[in-house]
Amino acid sequence: MNRLHRWLCRSDHWRSTVAERLPWAIGDAELGPNVLEIGPGPGLTTDLLGTSVPRLTALEIDAALASSLSSRLKGSNVQVIEGDATEMPFGDSEFSGAVSFTMLHHVPSEKLQNKVLAEAFRVLRPGGFFVGCDSLQSWFMRIFHLGDTLVPVNPDTFASRLQSAGFEVLEVKQNSQAFRFRARRPSALPVKAQIENETNHLCWFDLWRGP
Ligand SMILES: C[S@@+](CC[C@H](N)C(=O)[O-])C[C@H]1O[C@@H](n2cnc3c(N)ncnc32)[C@H](O)[C@@H]1O
Repeated sequence: MNRLHRWLCRSDHWRSTVAERLPWAIGDAELGPNVLEIGPGPGLTTDLLGTSVPRLTALEIDAALASSLSSRLKGSNVQVIEGDATEMPFGDSEFSGAVSFTMLHHVPSEKLQNKVLAEAFRVLRPGGFFVGCDSLQSWFMRIFHLGDTLVPVNPDTFASRLQSAGFEVLEVKQNSQAFRFRARRPSALPVKAQIENETNHLCWFDLWRGP
């Protein structure tokens, strides 16, 4: 992030913006006991989320931001990890819920953004929610990102991108400044696969039992 952007993301103005935006983005999604935040930045979103979930892991690519947030939240229920959300340093199905607030436009290409979505899917347990928001394209956004990465996410195509990553999409909705999304990693195999599974199981069982 450029200096102006860093200043904004630490400001009281942004603190009051995220105080409105987070409940708007999360809604009634049940994030569960072990939540991942992707791209916490200076951590205004982390401060807020950390008070409402038992355990929070924040994954931040910027070494300086990760280190200062980690020191600030030492001894709390938040663990800060320096790492890249396109290649998350976590095991499969590790988290009960995942969130990303105003970070996807900082990922430098649509292809890499899709990798973030695929990684969020991989590290979420079946049934886990992935929710978040991002700012819409505007002249204000362009000015704030001068000399910085800005690959705006188009809310009109975002649902199909989430689906391509494997998610069941519950909602993509926008207001005048931002859009929110709510998606879930499906909790069970699709019905067709379930039937095939059970059929295979029956066949193997019959073979084992003999004629
Ligand atoms: C605009 S800040 C948003 C911070 C915070 N979520 C908020 O809403 O206040 C975006 C953050 O995402 C981080 N980020 C960008 N790409 C990332 C990646 N591939 N993996 C992890 N973090 C990333 C940036 O370093 C930056 O700190």
